[in-house]
Amino acid sequence: MRRVYLDNNATTPVLPEVWEAMKPYLETSFGNASSIHWYGQQARGAVERAREQVAALLGARAAEIVFTSGGTEGDNKAIFGLCEPGDHIITSAIEHSAVRNTCQEMQKRGFEVTVVGVDQRGVVDPGEVKKALKPNTKLISIMYANNETGAIQPVEEIGALAAEADVFFHTDAVQAAGKIAVDVEKVGCDMLAISGHKLHAPKGVGATYLRKGTQCRPLMYGGTHERGRRPGTENVPGIVALGKACELAKKAVDDGTMQRVAALRDRLEQTIVGAIEECGVNGEGAPRVPNTSNLYFSHIEGEPLLIALDLKGVAVATGAACSSGAVEPSPVLVALGMGPQRARGSIRWSLSKLTTAEDIEYTLSVVPDAVARLREISPSWRKVPVASR
Ligand SMILES: Cc1ncc(COP(=O)(O)O)c(C=O)c1O
Repeated sequence: MRRVYLDNNATTPVLPEVWEAMKPYLETSFGNASSIHWYGQQARGAVERAREQVAALLGARAAEIVFTSGGTEGDNKAIFGLCEPGDHIITSAIEHSAVRNTCQEMQKRGFEVTVVGVDQRGVVDPGEVKKALKPNTKLISIMYANNETGAIQPVEEIGALAAEADVFFHTDAVQAAGKIAVDVEKVGCDMLAISGHKLHAPKGVGATYLRKGTQCRPLMYGGTHERGRRPGTENVPGIVALGKACELAKKAVDDGTMQRVAALRDRLEQTIVGAIEECGVNGEGAPRVPNTSNLYFSHIEGEPLLIALDLKGVAVATGAACSSGAVEPSPVLVALGMGPQRARGSIRWSLSKLTTAEDIEYTLSVVPDAVARLREISPSWRKVPVASR
């Protein structure tokens, strides 16, 4: 059976070039980057080259890059590391659980948290962020691009107003890096988190941009690795892989590869919406990353549709990967103002630079039938007069 992977916002396969780059650091050049001997020097050199590659993707200086275990750590690092008791934090209603649950924990610990809403497109209004500012506001943590809808947030405007108010700005760029051009100077953020496994590096490695001079307490205590910003022996193979993946991601953003991905996404989306009744785009009209589409199908649940498509070899997601299996509708889709039924009847399709036109054509050949079969057994669909179906 043909298999088509359209769940790249959950995770991506490691590219062959990335695997080739990291392999020596598991086998022959396996040294500890802190060791003085030849093995250590090989590892240290590789870590520093990777730092340059990550910095180049983000428009940062190499010294401003701190390697982490991924997006969750980067988000926690910013929120726990920048805030002190008595501080107020502003975040949004569409954050990934890595930010949402961290802010909830801060609230339990006595911090003040304001959650700003989004419009129907799933986009934060910078005016609302400005209104939420208080004298004790320390941090604004608002994501760059949403993992479920792909909506790009007005991070430059938010960065500007944070600077004006002398407040830290952290942005979770896990779903933006490698898909669109990201430049920390243009965004004006103090911290920005990325994750390796969303851009064709392995799971368990990531990086955080930490603006020069920004005082951020480490999450963990131990050695003086990463200039005291993140203790623990460096994950050298993972870091090398992240560096290579960032180099390739920059190329794909610059050379039009991601525009090709956007064209495939648009073909998928427009054909499905044109062919199937009572189906549409969640967050329509928002500026979006090129690889993501989120569609609702009335009268059916997303979960059985996901299973039906999986049986045909097509892998998609309902809501965020981390909440798959949960019966609760996605909080992100609910934040867009849609009812729980529509939210539960939604499917996320996320492509990558490895997605082919054949993948999309195959997907288009199986979706209408899968939807029709589920609607046949849907009591609410049966009540819809045939003439209006
Ligand atoms: C927007 C966003 N932030 C953070 C994360 C967490 O990243 P990681 O899996 O590297 O911890 C994810 C992963 O789904 C994400 O999509």
